[in-house]
Amino acid sequence: MSKINIKTKVKKFKTAKNLYGIFFEDINRAGDGGLYPEMLRNRTFEDSLAPIDCMTDEGDYAIITPAGWRDEFNHGEGLSRWVRQNQIPYTPIPAWYGEGAQMELERTDTLNTCRSAALSVSFEKGGCIYNTGYCGIPQKAGKSSVFYMFAKSEKPVELLVTIEEESDILSSASFQVCGNGYIRYDGIFTSLKDTRNARLVITAREGGKIKLGFISLMPADTYNGHGLRIDLVEKLRELHPRFLRFPGGCIVEGFTPLTAMRFRNTVGPVWERPGHLLMWHYRSYIGLGFHEYLQLCEDLDLEPLYVFNCGMTCQARCSVLMEDKELDDMIQDTLDAIEYAIGPEDSKWGSLRAKMGHPSPFKMNFMEIGNENSGTGYEERYELCYHTIREKYPHIKFIANTHVEEKGLAADIVDEHFYNTAEYFAENIHFYDNYDRKGPEIFVGEFAVVRGYAGQHYAALGEADFLIGLERNQDVVTLASYAPLFENVNYNAWFPNLIRFHNSESFAIPTYYTWKMFGQNRGDYVVESNEETGTLYRPVKGMASLRGASGMRYRNARWNGMEVGVTHELMGRVRAQEDSYMIEAPDEEQLEECKRLYGIDPEKIFAVFGEEDVTEGTFEIEIFAEAGKEIEIGVYSSRIPKEVYVSDETHPPKEWNAGNVKPFIWKIKDSISSFTESSYPEEIRLSKDSKVVLKTGEFNQFRYNTDGRNMSLYLNDILIHEASVPSFPVLASVVTDTEQEVIIKAVNMAPEEEAVDITLDCEVDSDYQVLILTGDKQAENSFEDPENISDKRILLKGAGKSFTYQAPAYSVNIIRLKKV
Ligand code: AHR
Repeated sequence: MSKINIKTKVKKFKTAKNLYGIFFEDINRAGDGGLYPEMLRNRTFEDSLAPIDCMTDEGDYAIITPAGWRDEFNHGEGLSRWVRQNQIPYTPIPAWYGEGAQMELERTDTLNTCRSAALSVSFEKGGCIYNTGYCGIPQKAGKSSVFYMFAKSEKPVELLVTIEEESDILSSASFQVCGNGYIRYDGIFTSLKDTRNARLVITAREGGKIKLGFISLMPADTYNGHGLRIDLVEKLRELHPRFLRFPGGCIVEGFTPLTAMRFRNTVGPVWERPGHLLMWHYRSYIGLGFHEYLQLCEDLDLEPLYVFNCGMTCQARCSVLMEDKELDDMIQDTLDAIEYAIGPEDSKWGSLRAKMGHPSPFKMNFMEIGNENSGTGYEERYELCYHTIREKYPHIKFIANTHVEEKGLAADIVDEHFYNTAEYFAENIHFYDNYDRKGPEIFVGEFAVVRGYAGQHYAALGEADFLIGLERNQDVVTLASYAPLFENVNYNAWFPNLIRFHNSESFAIPTYYTWKMFGQNRGDYVVESNEETGTLYRPVKGMASLRGASGMRYRNARWNGMEVGVTHELMGRVRAQEDSYMIEAPDEEQLEECKRLYGIDPEKIFAVFGEEDVTEGTFEIEIFAEAGKEIEIGVYSSRIPKEVYVSDETHPPKEWNAGNVKPFIWKIKDSISSFTESSYPEEIRLSKDSKVVLKTGEFNQFRYNTDGRNMSLYLNDILIHEASVPSFPVLASVVTDTEQEVIIKAVNMAPEEEAVDITLDCEVDSDYQVLILTGDKQAENSFEDPENISDKRILLKGAGKSFTYQAPAYSVNIIRLKKV
């Protein structure tokens, strides 16, 4: 039984107008072949070209940046698992195949200076080349596709262009290619039938030689005629978002200065946009560029929130700081972007906007300086960008990646990101309760359950709890978005993603419905409410581990009285000594792996005892203490899934590695003992720090007991810390109202129905409406059952100043009461 006591007469603050938004990043081939529905893959013929500042390994299997970051390349096909999953036959020019035709990349005689390649084709009589699209080309009976190509040929060549499925020709057009310069040829193809597995075939009946400079096939019907895929934009619209954060994400940062995003490369005719290899393992042709994002914002009435590179590459991928001219050029690029968005029609970039069909200015009120950047290199660049841009555009609100205000820098908004478990989000419902109301506003720019129940119903519940926390604090948290937004299921690079699609259909994960329910039911004021409810605990498992300086010595390690040894040497090697064991410094192999595991200290040793399935027991160990050296004992050391962005099958990280074991850490350093959970963006303290006496130069006894809920930690038989496993409420709620209505959002995390006693300080109609999202913990949506977990509307009777609502097991509920 839970209780919610609501005082509508006590208005806490207004709801934040722009709280819910969307974050688009071109990841999982979300752009080309997705939101930007180009049907031909490798339309620029450049996919197999590695960035000029990178090396490739033998066989073009991986690229290696000058700073040492490795990523899978597969001569432009992207991840090895895409090649396997989609059964992509080998071709040196990705997506292009020939029968009776020789294809070669032409590197000098290209369409324009922005293009690095053209396709040179020698057809035999009746020979053809074809493109297989993004796992097939989708066509709908009676619907048209817009085709064009830039081609040249010294002698006239008759080409028949067909869209075919096996031996069925769905539509066709003929062209005579002739001319020394590239000429654009246009066609409309109207399909005779539905398919998602066609290919575009170019046949020369009489043979001949041509060069293709660029080619495209797009659906004629797009959202508002602005070039984007209708079902995907409609799904976005349903969320009732208020802003669009774009274009990334890590792709803004790039993995080298040349692969960083620059506005200038994303506007103008699409065949003049250079495109480049994105962080997420494929090349983008940037059909979805700055203009298209702004147009989408206008179409959905969103505030554009432009994230720009502030002069540094991705810090999780061997970062490079840009300096001097390169840095100035980056800042100039951002100034140009703003001029494009809101500059006068007769300005340099404003006139290009007008030429692109939008003479009046778009909006640009929010900008983010960098993505996930931090440290002094960031702070210097942040300050430079902030002041340079603010001077010209004082109305813009700037978003920082870290709490730069703590370093004395001006910050309007700070962006915080969270990728974690469902339980973590539920446990952190109070995260923002004590944030400084006089400090910068908070933008929760990326958050998602990525482990445990990722993509499943329970994840949506945990995230809904966190959203309740944001709503309760929307006087300081004013913007929030989920990440990532889209995934072409054939090209998954990250999981989970809010909306999943293939070349013709889409569905959304359960989380989508939480955001939709919250976005569509806002209210005007957050009103006073409090609740009474039960407690649920995070499930924990795993044995002990040891971390610290190399050379650490231990003896008599025991689990429930029985001797145990190290089962996993994650960093450092264990060597038996006469009366003890020593953990020696990490070896070459471990250090090599460490380079690929973000945030691991190569100086530290890390060893795990026993296996990961235990939940209760007593661990004891004697450790030799040395002056100035810290000792860390891990409680509940078990594996979490690997980091999503480590994508190089030539060097897969080991199953057990220092990056995927995240225990609670009991640390003793300089006579201070702490017990914490390492968490991003902040370490969480499980118990108060305490002063201890560690006997240096001798063995000290460490012991902990746990029953899966309570943990007691002893040093030399003295109790140092007592802590509970993190917990969260059974029911969490927030209440907003308008003049006419009271809107209660309530999440029940428990496996059984929860009776909720609701009391109000105003009269309400007996008839009321509830939106409910409920299902099994692991329930998912799919192409076959797209709305298995989706919000259902029900009408109920019996509301009043005091009434009981039955919240179904594992449910998100929006209860709308009519004031009378
Ligand atoms: O959302 C996926 C990635 O997560 C984003 O590119 C980055 O900002 C974060 O690390």
